Amino acid sequence: MEKTFLMVKPDGVQRNLVGEIVSRFEKKGYQLVGAKLMTVSRELAEKHYAEHKERPFFGELVDFITSGPVFAMVWQGNNVIANARSMMGKTNPADAASGTIRGDFATSVGMNIIHGSDSPESAEREIALWFSNDEVLAYDKTI
Ligand code: CMP
Repeated sequence: MEKTFLMVKPDGVQRNLVGEIVSRFEKKGYQLVGAKLMTVSRELAEKHYAEHKERPFFGELVDFITSGPVFAMVWQGNNVIANARSMMGKTNPADAASGTIRGDFATSVGMNIIHGSDSPESAEREIALWFSNDEVLAYDKTI
């Protein structure tokens, strides 16, 4: 079953949006198989955002993601990587449609509430970076 890594960023946690965001993915029909509220070390942040290392905003991005707790999650289900990206909306909330998480709750590209893996390769890399094997559960949905 396809899995993706999603993270409510420090702005989402501070604004009490964890429940709202979890609820949207639950209602869509996806299954939460890993979750933790955690503070992020600079080392983890720099590894996670390694592809942006040369961007002018890299330092700001690492400062922000390490500034307060994040809620890291692994979700599972049909086409979850692409569908989660649709549910999140465009990276820049100015371009994100209403009804998406960023369209509904964010106004700035830096503080855009949520991160989600953008491809199967990213999902595999990010899940392995943020979660140990025993933190990702396998359980049947019985109802
Ligand atoms: P995310 O999906 O977590 O992946 C990279 C992040 O970089 C992105 O969301 C934005 O929050 C952030 N980002 C992109 N462009 C800028 C920018 N111009 N200034 C600050 N942060 C940015």
